Amino acid sequence: MFSKDAINTYFSAIDAEIQDLLGYPQTTPDEYWKMLYYHMDWENYGQPDPKRGKRIRPLLTLLAAEAQSGKWQAALPFAAAVEILHNFSLVHDDIQDQSDKRRGRLCVYKIWGMPQAINAGDTLFTYAHAALRRAQIPAEDLVTAWQIFDDTCLALTRGQYLDMSFETRNQVSVPEYFEMIGGKTAALLGASAELGALAAGANAEQREHFREYGRHLGLAFQVRDDILGIWGDESVTGKSAATDIITRKMTLPVLYGMEQLPDFAAAYATETATVPDIVAMLEELKADEHSAEVEQHHSDLAMHHLAEIEKHHPAPELLKQLTAKLLNRAH
Ligand code: IPE
Ligand code: IPE
Ligand code: MG
Ligand code: MG
Repeated sequence: MFSKDAINTYFSAIDAEIQDLLGYPQTTPDEYWKMLYYHMDWENYGQPDPKRGKRIRPLLTLLAAEAQSGKWQAALPFAAAVEILHNFSLVHDDIQDQSDKRRGRLCVYKIWGMPQAINAGDTLFTYAHAALRRAQIPAEDLVTAWQIFDDTCLALTRGQYLDMSFETRNQVSVPEYFEMIGGKTAALLGASAELGALAAGANAEQREHFREYGRHLGLAFQVRDDILGIWGDESVTGKSAATDIITRKMTLPVLYGMEQLPDFAAAYATETATVPDIVAMLEELKADEHSAEVEQHHSDLAMHHLAEIEKHHPAPELLKQLTAKLLNRAH
């Protein structure tokens, strides 16, 4: 569906910007750098080849800039910032979720241990901030970018807090769930699009449509991640499929199951119900179909904001293709 040549132009530019920032390559990197280069998928250090990260956030940033002004290069520092921030969150998230695998191979903490993986995450967090100041834009816009970025970091960590706090609760409402995924996932996708528009000179009103477009895309994206977390194929997603249920995550299919059947809620609250038991009950209740409908709803809302953007500027074909591709994705 994507033109590989077109997308590779953006990917090469994103990788070059991030690699320059992180001082890659080095002839003799020590373990500090190795953790970063491994997690960013540039090196294997004896582990299997990774399934490379999809890089949808920096792509959104560049395509939003292109939609706004026709020029995407000015947004590269922001694209690097959102992708590095995302990667910071994954290094810590894998520790928090006790996941074994990320992108088809061992998580950083499984190789270097938890204390050093926390440090690697902190390093990426700092680089994400450092990336912002490379932007060649008016100082006033840079301050706005910092503000958007910091608000996003706060939303993300609050979302992660809610996610983890839900694990020990027997009941979570659907609005609480949306508050949680709005923070942990959608805020960053919204910021990715908004920062691209900002780098291309968009005003606050224009930026709002970009942010809302990215935010709804992010909500749809996280609902799909929840579906894949139960029904996904591990060899395609590169992440272990059962951990969301083992750790009793309050994902959307589970909340739907609880709303439909008190017996399901009771089973989920016990440690004795096995993963296959839980999955069978969810399938009986059609929790997968319901979740896919919710995903479609937020994807439609994203398209609505894209249509608003297009009233003023034609959006690049790739932006539309990216929106369509994320719906029903398999990885
Ligand atoms: C994973 O994000 C975390 C979620 C917000 C669901 P991605 O699926 O974008 O991860 P990579 O970077 O492509 O591996
Ligand atoms: C995604 O968390 C959001 C962040 C990492 C901030 P999840 O725990 O839902 O994502 P995966 O499934 O591990 O990628
Ligand atoms: Mg998590
Ligand atoms: Mg996780």
